[in-house]
Amino acid sequence: MAAGKGTRMKSLRPKVLHRLGGRALAQHVIDCAARLSARSVVVITGHGAELVEAGLSASATQDGATLQLRYVRQEPQLGTGHAVQQAVPVLPDDGVVLVLNGDVPLIEPQTLNDLLQACNDRHLALLSVDTGRDAGSYGRVVRTSDGAVQAIVEFKDADEGQRSITEWYSGVMAAPAKLLKNWLARLTKDNAQGEYYLTDVVRHAVADGQPVKAIVTRDEVQVAGVNSPQQLAELERAFQRRVAERLMAEGVRLADPARLDVRGQLVCGQDVEIDVNCVFEGVVELGQGVRIGAHCVVANARIGDGVVVHPFTHIEGEKAGVTVGAGSLVGPFARLRPGARLGAEVHIGNFVEVKNSTLADGAKANHLAYLGDATVGERVNYGAGSITANYDGANKHRTVIEADVHVGSNSVLVAPVTIGAGGTVGAGSVITKDAPAGALSVVRGKGFTVPGWQRPTKKAG
Ligand code: UD1
Ligand code: MG
Repeated sequence: MAAGKGTRMKSLRPKVLHRLGGRALAQHVIDCAARLSARSVVVITGHGAELVEAGLSASATQDGATLQLRYVRQEPQLGTGHAVQQAVPVLPDDGVVLVLNGDVPLIEPQTLNDLLQACNDRHLALLSVDTGRDAGSYGRVVRTSDGAVQAIVEFKDADEGQRSITEWYSGVMAAPAKLLKNWLARLTKDNAQGEYYLTDVVRHAVADGQPVKAIVTRDEVQVAGVNSPQQLAELERAFQRRVAERLMAEGVRLADPARLDVRGQLVCGQDVEIDVNCVFEGVVELGQGVRIGAHCVVANARIGDGVVVHPFTHIEGEKAGVTVGAGSLVGPFARLRPGARLGAEVHIGNFVEVKNSTLADGAKANHLAYLGDATVGERVNYGAGSITANYDGANKHRTVIEADVHVGSNSVLVAPVTIGAGGTVGAGSVITKDAPAGALSVVRGKGFTVPGWQRPTKKAG
């Protein structure tokens, strides 16, 4: 179910598209469903349907296939029961329906398999939660004195006694399609919110004399719903804590597990160390012995063995990716942009920006420089304050700096241009023509001195 507005988020964006760990809330749910052996996934959209449908994608099943998504529209949105009613025509009678809430993102496949087992193709099975504490605004699970589930009562409809029940409904249920369809057809909106509550199927099952199974979990993180920015932030921290625990269990040394954010997939080799306040996005691979300093943002990058990334470095690979070869040193305050390809033992120092450029082994740009659309040879030393002028206002051009070139400080290499192997560019040069190999090229105003120069003096009056 992903049709609700999410009023309590107070956002223009549909709730299920808000991100947790870098992924839309409903995407987490779809990815989890794909790991069960489901026949199909039906996504019910309504509020912001176009946005939601464009913002979600099919995900890979365990055997590598892609579980296609099928969208069903719910217009208008008259409640969770009404939402599932819209899916009825596309649900085969012989199946089991697992209902998942698009705003309950961290549910795990193992829990759903347990629920399906309780359902056993025959029963209505609910996933409920009981931590012994107040159940907030969630629906309460009402049982008879001998423990049989009788009903789910929404918070707004509950009396004082029911509100004191600590067992609440997670939003996840499984039921045989045929029975579910029958109960759905009997829902009414005779309640405090004037909505068709999915949770009322429990009453109909009980009325039919059908046993209702409930699996009770204590793991609040798996079943926590996101209804407000506060809940989203809390769940983000819980999610990140789990990611951090997993990484530490693999041997990654985190300076502080509470100060790490992984918004994608982080794969680490042995003996990786990560200092505080680092953010990883997209797919990031850190080789053996990599050290990431404090306050770095690293996205879509492959960082080779033994690389040290000093504090405050921003690595953003986007689609083209960034690669950093073994033993390289990057930062502090460096910026590697899409298409930066660094060989082994490359040094990128403070306030150096590299975009769509290849730096061969041992190349160095240590201070205040820009390399854009450049091919840089082995052992090149690229001086402080030098830049490639790669953009003529209309097109981008390449700069080629061959092996062992020394580019003096504060030079401008106006692309397209090639500096031949072993050449030297004098500091402060503006190079617009190819420089021959092995030569010293200096292109700047000739210096002169005037001995005994008298500076102007201020006139009287
Ligand atoms: C629901 C349950 C509540 C449970 C809680 C767990 C009902 C009536 N209540 O309440 O018992 O404790 O989840 O998180 O089911 N949606 C639609 N169409 C609609 C309304 C909602 O698709 O017309 C979707 C929303 O996008 C969301 C999900 O259903 O993904 C849950 O809706 P929400 O309004 O958050 O229900 P809760 O009040 O949290
Ligand atoms: Mg909710």
